[in-house]
Amino acid sequence: MVSFRDKLVHAPVAYTFRDVIIVPGFAEVEPSEVDLSTKVTKSFSIKVPIVSSPMDTVTEERMAITLARLGSLGVLHRNCSKERAIEMARNVKEASEVIDSVPTLSPNDSVARALELMREYDIDVLPVVDGDGRLLGTVIKVDVLLSLSEEPVASIVRRDIPILDTAADVSYAASLMRESKLTALPVVTKDGRYLGFIRAEMLSTREKGVEPSRGRDGRLLCAAAISPFDIDRARALDRYVDILVIDVAHFHNRNCINATKRLVKEVSADVVIGNIGTYKAAEDVVTGIERVDGLRVGISSGSICSTGEVTGAAAPTLFAVAEVADALKDYGLEIPVIADGGIRSAADAAKAFAVGAWCVMCGYLFAGCDESPSPVVRIGGKLYKYYRGMGSHAARVQRYILDRYSPVAKHVAEGIEALVPYRGPVSKVLREFVAALKAALGYAGAKSIRDMWEKARIAVITEQGAGEIRPHSVEPL
Ligand code: XMP
Repeated sequence: MVSFRDKLVHAPVAYTFRDVIIVPGFAEVEPSEVDLSTKVTKSFSIKVPIVSSPMDTVTEERMAITLARLGSLGVLHRNCSKERAIEMARNVKEASEVIDSVPTLSPNDSVARALELMREYDIDVLPVVDGDGRLLGTVIKVDVLLSLSEEPVASIVRRDIPILDTAADVSYAASLMRESKLTALPVVTKDGRYLGFIRAEMLSTREKGVEPSRGRDGRLLCAAAISPFDIDRARALDRYVDILVIDVAHFHNRNCINATKRLVKEVSADVVIGNIGTYKAAEDVVTGIERVDGLRVGISSGSICSTGEVTGAAAPTLFAVAEVADALKDYGLEIPVIADGGIRSAADAAKAFAVGAWCVMCGYLFAGCDESPSPVVRIGGKLYKYYRGMGSHAARVQRYILDRYSPVAKHVAEGIEALVPYRGPVSKVLREFVAALKAALGYAGAKSIRDMWEKARIAVITEQGAGEIRPHSVEPL
């Protein structure tokens, strides 16, 4: 047996994102030419390598639809009933690539109801329909705000708002929006039935050539989290989703591996396994389970995680990715590695790519977006959204998630509740993230994520040095 002193003296260093920098390398392409497309599982590609976490304050259908439309992916959470999980997956699969389903008003609905829906769906325009679903006209926010709450919307309905039909292409829709100065326009079928809305945000990305992520059925790519112990739910979801994501805090566990061995035989969707954090875990997973289509890697780096603090155990995402990627290399396996937890910026994502990640998973970055489930709150003049760990006490009392933290429920919370700054629409967050990521790859001298694995060099930085490479010595304005 190894001596205890040796165990201590020869312990590896578990480097984290904050400990390292990317060493600039010779660049043969400009940042604008960098290609960020990657695979999230063996069968499915995404153009934008950042996916959202399966957390109940991050990914429900609205987030999943938006991310898939923008070339990325949202993993639906599982802190809900099986029926609700199926409903979310169906909503993603039934969603159009550009048309949003916004609820309708009937002429007798009140102005107060219109305002409530506008806030909930973050839209300034709402459709008013008759009993047969035919569009009667549109209500806009300025009229709603300037009318009495109890008035019926019939009194403020506008019939002069442009309407799109299903054949309208992106540039025509954009030109109508510019002319009318409205950020969303209703779409109707040939016989005048209301279908949904097209929003300016979606058009601006489509105009720039952003391609949605699609499943084998040609519809928006859809992924959902599952427990390895709930085969019934996995089978039910398998009818709708392209990817099932095993959602366990510490997957390297005999019961989890045995259960997943059975599960992968029962489903046709790609199966992502996680979370794992070491070489040995990767080895045991790929040798023990017949089919592994992706790996979710990182333990306790998440912004709302308290696992490391509570238990002393952690595999920080940067360290974990390097371990797992090495195991896959040694076994000659091409299995996408999803770096999960602690990614605050494109800089962190670039570091994860440098040590073998294929894409990154974020909760924190998306929790503050319009498309996450919780409402915006104003505190001291600043806007926030509520975000919580799936192992937090509040998430655990919802019951469904208990098994994430063990096959038999653990009796300790491993996550916290928090507020994150409000960030606006996902489209904006992704745009900024992609621009910064392309710049990071440019500095590393890489033209793609795969290129990062080979070319990007990492250096360890001291705590003092970390201070020097941030703005310093000045009072920021
Ligand atoms: P970020 O840093 O993006 O991390 O907020 C999101 C990831 O954190 C994991 N997660 C948890 N880990 N306790 C944990 O130890 C928790 O309560 C918890 N909830 C989420 C998860 O991997 C997620 O993708």
